[in-house]
Amino acid sequence: MEGSASIMKIGILNGGGDCAGLNAVTRAVVRKSDQFGFEVVGIRHGWAGLLELDTVPLKWGDVSHVMNLGGTILHTTRTNPFSRKYGPETVLSNYRKMALDALVAVGGEDTLSVAAKLAQMGLKAVGVPKTIDNDIVETDMTFGFDSAVNVTVDAIDRIQTTGESHDRIMIVEVMGRHAGWIAAYAGLASGANLTLVPEEPIDMDEVAAFLRKRHELGATASVVVVGEGCYLKNGSAGDASKLDEFGHVRLGGIGDFLAKEIERRVGIQTRAVVLGHVVRGGSPSAYDRILATRLAVAAVQAVKDGVFGVMVCLRGNVVSRVPLKDILEKMKNLDKDTLGLVKDFQN
Ligand code: F6P
Repeated sequence: MEGSASIMKIGILNGGGDCAGLNAVTRAVVRKSDQFGFEVVGIRHGWAGLLELDTVPLKWGDVSHVMNLGGTILHTTRTNPFSRKYGPETVLSNYRKMALDALVAVGGEDTLSVAAKLAQMGLKAVGVPKTIDNDIVETDMTFGFDSAVNVTVDAIDRIQTTGESHDRIMIVEVMGRHAGWIAAYAGLASGANLTLVPEEPIDMDEVAAFLRKRHELGATASVVVVGEGCYLKNGSAGDASKLDEFGHVRLGGIGDFLAKEIERRVGIQTRAVVLGHVVRGGSPSAYDRILATRLAVAAVQAVKDGVFGVMVCLRGNVVSRVPLKDILEKMKNLDKDTLGLVKDFQN
C-alpha cells in the first residue's frame, strides 16, 4: 500500500448508478487537491471515459457551486473494462497517456472491484464508496443512502394518507438491490405496517394472514414496504434475461405481484407504487454532503501519503482506509439488530 508522495495529477471518475453526494465528492477532491497543489482531471461516464479518453479539467470555479446538485456532473455508466476486449490494457495505457499520478474511483462494489483489479496491474487507485443501497462491506455507511431514505420516507408518508382515505392496502416497492437497507430504514422511519426485505424470502401465506388479521381487528388501511430484491420462498429475484456488464439481473416487479396476490387473498383493494429512480435523484441531505466531503478529503490525503489500492471508509464516526481487495465480491446485508427492529415494529 505504500508509494511515493510526489503526486501532481489526479483523475476522478464516478461509476455505477448515480446517487446524491457525488458532486460533493468531486468538489471536495478539487478543493483539497488545490491545497496540496495537485491538478484534477474529471473522467466522464465512468470507466468508459478512461477507455475513450473522455475527460474535462476541473478547477475550483467548476465545482464550487455543485454541493447541492443531485446526480453527477461527471456523468456515469455501468461500463466494465474487464468485460471488453483489451479493456484493462486500454484503461492502463490511457491512464499513462493522460500522465495521471493517481485515480480516485467513486463507486459501488462493481466500480471499486474494477479499481482493485487495476490497482493490482499498477494503476494507483483510491476508492471512495457510494451507493443508495448502503451494501458495501467495510464501511458503516455510504453517502447517497441517507438522502434516498429521506425521499422514500416522504413518499411513504404521502402514500399513507391516500391509502387511508381510500381504505386500501398500499404496497411501496423500493430500490436497494439484494440488501434491505433502504426498505428497513424507510419502513422503520415511516412506521410502515409491514416491511419485507430481501434478506428473508417472502412467505405469501404469512403476509396475507398478517394483513387479514390487521383488518379484521379494525384497521382500514395498511402500508407494506418491499425491497425490490425480495422474492418468494422457492423463487428468485429479478429478470435473469436482462444482465448488465457486471452480470447483475434487473430487479423490479415484486410490488405489482404482491398487490395482485394480496388483493386476491385478503379481499381489500390494493395498489402498488414503485418509487424506483425517484429516490436516487435530487439534492443530497446534509448528512450525505458532509460524509461525501470527509471521504473525498481522506482520498486526496491517501494520494498525498502515497497510499494506493485502498478504499476510504467510515468506521463508527471515524474515516479510515481499508485495502480495496477486502471488498471484492462481498455484499453488506442487513445486520441482525436492524432485522430484529424491523420485526419488532410490524404493527
Ligand atoms: O445500485 C443502485 C441502484 O439504484 C439499485 O438500487 C437499483 O437496483 C439499480 O441501481 C438500478 O439500476 P439502473 O439505474 O441501471 O436501472
